[in-house]
Amino acid sequence: MANDFKPPVTVALTGASGAQYGLRLIECLVAADHEVWVMISKAAHLVIDTETDISLPARPERLVEALGEMSGARAGQIRCFAREDWMAPVASGSGAPASMVICPCSTGTLSAVATGASNNLIERAADVALKERRQLILVPRETPFSAIHLEHMLSLTRMGAVILPAAPGFYHQPSSVDDLIDFIVARILNQLGIEHRLMPRWGESAPST
Ligand SMILES: Cc1cc2nc3c(=O)[nH]c(=O)nc-3n(C[C@H](O)[C@H](O)[C@H](O)COP(=O)(O)O)c2cc1C
Repeated sequence: MANDFKPPVTVALTGASGAQYGLRLIECLVAADHEVWVMISKAAHLVIDTETDISLPARPERLVEALGEMSGARAGQIRCFAREDWMAPVASGSGAPASMVICPCSTGTLSAVATGASNNLIERAADVALKERRQLILVPRETPFSAIHLEHMLSLTRMGAVILPAAPGFYHQPSSVDDLIDFIVARILNQLGIEHRLMPRWGESAPST
């Protein structure tokens, strides 16, 4: 039976600090009933091990199960692709979703995307998003930024990508790390045009939950 999910969104986690942003984004997309296509770089696995209590296997089939358990996804809602799975739909303009988010985005992947390296499936999928003029959102986390990072961000912005730094605000008076994570994830969902109740938009009052 064909699934009834909303259109797929590609989410790639790379090896910058802030794995929680990407994992929470997957959870929120699942909750919003979207299909989610996931890629996790080798370095991102190391960051996830360092920063969270979640243990994620590398093999795509097992990763689907683990992310499904973590997010409460229905069967078929999450698909995962390996580093060099060049036959994956994200590797071609004819199969790639309308939107891709790299969250968090390492400066290494930022540089590779800005220069079109396409040395792994994450970089290739981003290259496809750019060439097809699809939505590409990058969530870099580094501090301070070098001229190299800033120049790559500028050229990506000029190519139509959105640079959405992992720099949460504090005007919503966060009381936990989860509040800070949700601040960034809410911004990503706003960009994607996906409804959420993570935090009120500017000028709105807080949801009554
Ligand atoms: C625990 C940990 C934290 C890291 N934090 C960052 C970071 O915040 N920003 C960044 O650009 N790279 C960071 N790195 C380095 C990247 O993981 C490294 O450059 C890697 O080659 C990126 O590969 P990828 O883009 O294929 O994931 C971190 C690495 C580790 C192990």
